[in-house]
Amino acid sequence: DRRPRVFSGIQPTAGSFHLGNYLGALRQWVDLQNSHDAFYAVVDLHAITIPQEPEGLRRSTRFAAAQLLAAGVDPERCTLFVQSHVPEHAQLAWVMNCLTGFGEASRMTQFKDKSARQGSDGTSVGLFTYPVLQIADILLYHADRVPVGEDQRQHIEITRDLALRFNGRYGDTFTVPEPYILKDTAKIYDLQDPSIKMSKSASSPKGIVNLLDEPKAAAKKIKSAVTDTGTEIRFDETEKPGVSNLLTIHSTLTGTGIAELEEKYAGKGYGALKTDLADIVVAWVEPFRARTQEYLDDTETLDAILAKGAEKARAVAAETLAVAYDKVGF
Ligand code: ADP
Ligand code: NA
Repeated sequence: DRRPRVFSGIQPTAGSFHLGNYLGALRQWVDLQNSHDAFYAVVDLHAITIPQEPEGLRRSTRFAAAQLLAAGVDPERCTLFVQSHVPEHAQLAWVMNCLTGFGEASRMTQFKDKSARQGSDGTSVGLFTYPVLQIADILLYHADRVPVGEDQRQHIEITRDLALRFNGRYGDTFTVPEPYILKDTAKIYDLQDPSIKMSKSASSPKGIVNLLDEPKAAAKKIKSAVTDTGTEIRFDETEKPGVSNLLTIHSTLTGTGIAELEEKYAGKGYGALKTDLADIVVAWVEPFRARTQEYLDDTETLDAILAKGAEKARAVAAETLAVAYDKVGF
């Protein structure tokens, strides 16, 4: 397969993915599997950087995989697997831990944010070395590109630094990956507070459309989205962040340009936009829920898909690790 390679991972979560995850990330995964040799992982090793109940983690991992499949990730066109099924991730991470400076790791802003929230006793060493495990995830597959949101740019930078460092010290081994920040990737904001992004951790339940919301509940959230006191439907993120967010969601779900939408809603009130968007979201959520449930009702098939994915991933990862271990002197 000579198509450029991509690697991307997503953490399993107890709750379903939200519209921000889908429009900002998963939709791109689905697109990229057609043009790239894609490796996609449910990164359960990353998940235990914060405490998890064993059965809960197992459930969340299957739940994440079912949602990825329902979103259109196709195991015939990419390699979909669970990170812990491929032990080479942890093995290469150790080598990378020993090549990463303590100060260098300490500069990761995502760690600073997360550890500040959890306090030093609530912060595991695993959370600190999380970016190093991510380095191993990417380098094991010789990924040329890593599709990520802007918030991950620093982690891709350190991945590049470490690939170059290893190659410089031990000879050419790893592909130096490029961040693949999709310029037109939608950033979706909280429906109740459009000054913050839609996030599982940061917003009120009414602010997030979860992909597995009851269709009625999803519609209600869209209809009660915070807008402004004006009436004009215009894309203006400073003056009209709420309306702009609804336009972005509409545009990305339907593939209609923003300008076209502004024209369509000229002279109409926010109610018209919200009603249409509620219908659009419901039409998306309904089949998504049904497909996810089908996978969850047949865990035998789901587990078989993941086992096959792990086998494909492991063939690549084991080869990379063997070369790297040999160079290190193991
Ligand atoms: P959360 O912010 O809910 O914790 P994650 O950090 O697990 O979500 O993000 C998983 C993926 O979804 C990442 O690629 C991230 O960039 C993307 N993502 C998360 N929230 C949004 C959002 N509001 N808009 C666009 N993309 C998002
Ligand atoms: Na995030």
